[in-house]
Amino acid sequence: MSTSPLRVAVTGAAGQIGYSLLPRIAAGEMFGPDQPVILQLLEIPVEGPQKAMKGVAMELDDCAFPLLADMTLHDDPNAAFGDADWCLLVGSKPRGPGMERADLLKDNGAIFVGQGKAIDENAADGCRTAVVGNPCNTNCMIAANQAKRLPAENFTAMTRLDQNRAATQLAQKAGVPVTEVENLIIYGNHSPTMFADFQNATIGGKPATEAINDEAWLKQEFLPTVGKRGAAIIEARGLSSAGSAANALIGHVHDLHIPSDKVHSIAVKSDGSYGFAEGVWASVPVRTTAPGTYEVIHGLEQNDFGKERIAITNDELVSERETVSDMLG
Ligand code: NAD
Ligand code: LMR
Repeated sequence: MSTSPLRVAVTGAAGQIGYSLLPRIAAGEMFGPDQPVILQLLEIPVEGPQKAMKGVAMELDDCAFPLLADMTLHDDPNAAFGDADWCLLVGSKPRGPGMERADLLKDNGAIFVGQGKAIDENAADGCRTAVVGNPCNTNCMIAANQAKRLPAENFTAMTRLDQNRAATQLAQKAGVPVTEVENLIIYGNHSPTMFADFQNATIGGKPATEAINDEAWLKQEFLPTVGKRGAAIIEARGLSSAGSAANALIGHVHDLHIPSDKVHSIAVKSDGSYGFAEGVWASVPVRTTAPGTYEVIHGLEQNDFGKERIAITNDELVSERETVSDMLG
């Protein structure tokens, strides 16, 4: 029996991340090797990006992906999100050198007001939305608040790139393959304040703090390296991360779509656990229980250092929420 295709709307289809992301979705890396997809691509209604999106679509055609059941191109979010099962909100302005992600709030926040409404009015009932466009936690909160028909739990923001970055930093320090690093969770905002919780992580089954046994490095080098990695990539490339961001979104959605015992980091509407203010979108540990459905893992211990770090990233999320209070519907 054939499986019906999933409708996957992707914004910013002509952008850097879009170019790395779309072939991987069409190849089955996001939803699995037996799941056909229909790509519904959105770009701004401007000649250059529209033309570039057509070029991206031509290349997707030229790949002859067996799982790509159809593809539609749009300049109107209402059409792009029509009956969508997943909306991947990538399209927005990236930061340049010397900027923080929160500096993008004014320009990008408005995009997520309109797109939240368009998802609400047009997407499928069970639609899930993943936000990548920065600052992604707060943009996700804006979109979810505009989409009253859909449960807020269906809106998640991506901190998987931070989780992947942190895992590699620990593995390299310990001199082991990255697969040895487990239970590494990102708490809070996708910004330098995030807390990459090395204290509950394991390396080769042992606490990471024992395997590495260098508290100064963990606190003073590891955390800032992970927190400022996005800026370091911009400094090196002159452009923000794209291949690694697309890869992280593949992991984020894959692990939300396919249930397993795996614990992973996503930013979700806070229920107040781990000291986060209720209603901000904070990264916490989750486990996927059914396609697109997760439970937050409660009760992981935090010592005073962990609590302090979580308080700092929470304060930033609360302050971003105040900045966009007029966008919350
Ligand atoms: P880019 O400039 O290369 O591409 C963005 C594309 O989005 C452009 O083609 C633009 O025309 C399009 N766009 C802008 N507004 C749109 C709208 N309203 N609707 C549809 N399309 C729209 O940028 P990029 O490098 O692909 O990055 C995209 C976003 O992702 C940025 O905000 C960046 O900061 C963010 N990002 C987040 C993470 C993360 O970990 N959460 C990682 C990397 C990048
Ligand atoms: C990243 O973490 O690489 C992205 O959020 C892009 C950025 O602005 O840092």
